[in-house]
Amino acid sequence: MLRHILLTLSVSALLVAQSQIPHLQKQGSATQLIVDGSPFLILGGELHNSSSSSIDYMNPIWERMVGMHFNTVLAGVSWELIEPEEGRFDFRLVDGLIDGARRHHLRLVFLWFGSWKNGMSSYIPVWVKKDYKRFGRVQYSDGRTVEVLSTVVKASQDADAKAFAALMRHVREVDGHDHTVIMVQVENEVGVLGDSRDHSAPANAAFAQPVPQKLVDALSRGKDSLYPDLKRRWEAGGFRTTGTWEQMFGAGPATDEIFMAWNYASYVDKVTAAGKAEYPIPMYVNTWLSSPDKKPGEWPSGGPLPHVLDVWRAAGTQIDVLTPDIYQTNFAEWCRRYVHRGNPLFIPEMMRDASGARNVFYAIGQHDAIGTSPFAVDSIAEWEKAPLGKAYAVLEQLAPAILEHQGKGEITGFLLDKEHPSVKAEMGGYELDIQIDSIFGMTATSGHGIVIATGPGEFIGAGTGFRVAFTPKTPGPKIAGIATVDEGEFKAGKWVAGRRLNGDENDQGQRWRFSPQGLSISRCAVYRYE
Ligand code: DGJ
Repeated sequence: MLRHILLTLSVSALLVAQSQIPHLQKQGSATQLIVDGSPFLILGGELHNSSSSSIDYMNPIWERMVGMHFNTVLAGVSWELIEPEEGRFDFRLVDGLIDGARRHHLRLVFLWFGSWKNGMSSYIPVWVKKDYKRFGRVQYSDGRTVEVLSTVVKASQDADAKAFAALMRHVREVDGHDHTVIMVQVENEVGVLGDSRDHSAPANAAFAQPVPQKLVDALSRGKDSLYPDLKRRWEAGGFRTTGTWEQMFGAGPATDEIFMAWNYASYVDKVTAAGKAEYPIPMYVNTWLSSPDKKPGEWPSGGPLPHVLDVWRAAGTQIDVLTPDIYQTNFAEWCRRYVHRGNPLFIPEMMRDASGARNVFYAIGQHDAIGTSPFAVDSIAEWEKAPLGKAYAVLEQLAPAILEHQGKGEITGFLLDKEHPSVKAEMGGYELDIQIDSIFGMTATSGHGIVIATGPGEFIGAGTGFRVAFTPKTPGPKIAGIATVDEGEFKAGKWVAGRRLNGDENDQGQRWRFSPQGLSISRCAVYRYE
């Protein structure tokens, strides 16, 4: 009888867990994506923009994604294809993508190519393109009109929101139980290109108005933790709490960008809200990043760059995550910028080459990223040998441990090279001195990896080209020794040990080493003496 009750209870608990739609949940300082009741680490890849517009084209691609150990595919879904005529929706492509993903046990993140894609409006349906009077465009300061929807035109916002709501309603209807679609990106790399702001008549009128009270209040409330660049700009004007955009932040492209950020954020937030009213799974916005030698308008002005993240946050609460597309070489720095004020890290676009395969370890290990997703993964040549596939094969094995220890100060991720040959991390009661690997005078050129403190004196690590020394940080014997190092792998979630690493392989018992020859996983047990 008792067994029967327990069985019934556990079956119903399972059903409740499965019926929960994908959502975000805090674990310590981390934000986790919960899918079917359990934390999920996105080992993703984004397709080329046009790949997902044909199910036939996609047919051979799914297998490759599985072969490279992706668990999630990021695929574009465009306004032009789902609403070819106003009010007539066609979801055959959406259904085909969901079916393809399901058949390969993959999850999907849909990218809503709506009003904007890379700052432009090329994915709006032809009926929106042609009706340029109803759906007004951006104008440059020299009077030229461009094929970019203006943020201040309500008709565009309403039409986009209506289409996005229809998409999310459909996703709920066909996927509300299976949860193949786990997250949605709303728009793509928004912002004005070619000028620092929209100079159309309605935009000029909005620019001449006082800064909305909602923004002033949010900035005032969070004054002490504002992103430094924004705070400096506001401070230069004496932290005014009334006035126009130029009165509060000074005249110039940086203020134009703040104005555009507010307007894009408000527009996108409304579109997001309309989608969430139908099916509230996590939604994020991605960003074309800036560079120090350029100015707003040379990158899309108004996208959620770090220096306007606070403005985006003030505009609404529907967008869950503001994300960077990191193609720059200073990957770690961009990750640090995007975790501003608890913004969770998710990287929807990054390099798909060997550098990307290194960086995924850093984002996930160091910043508890919800996941990573290199771009254009469907054109990875010789995918069987791809560094990214090898990296994901390792992270796939570690995912349960990563998800268990996220947000608790028990994981570190690192990128080492000649300029950054070592890092220190404190975890599991020890200080870890992590250095580029070196033995008998032979030093690796680079190293990267992830280390997890899994229990008292127990660590799991993965990566290549680094070595770790331990120092106790809690009361007790003052010296740490390496008890054992075992190489191995997780098979169906169970640890299967391979070689016992000793001698040269652990620097004669002094260090936990990861050979520069290729990725490996090992477990290290540490003890203390004096
Ligand atoms: C960033 C965009 O978001 C992608 O859709 C694609 O256009 C890439 N750039 C190309 O590098």
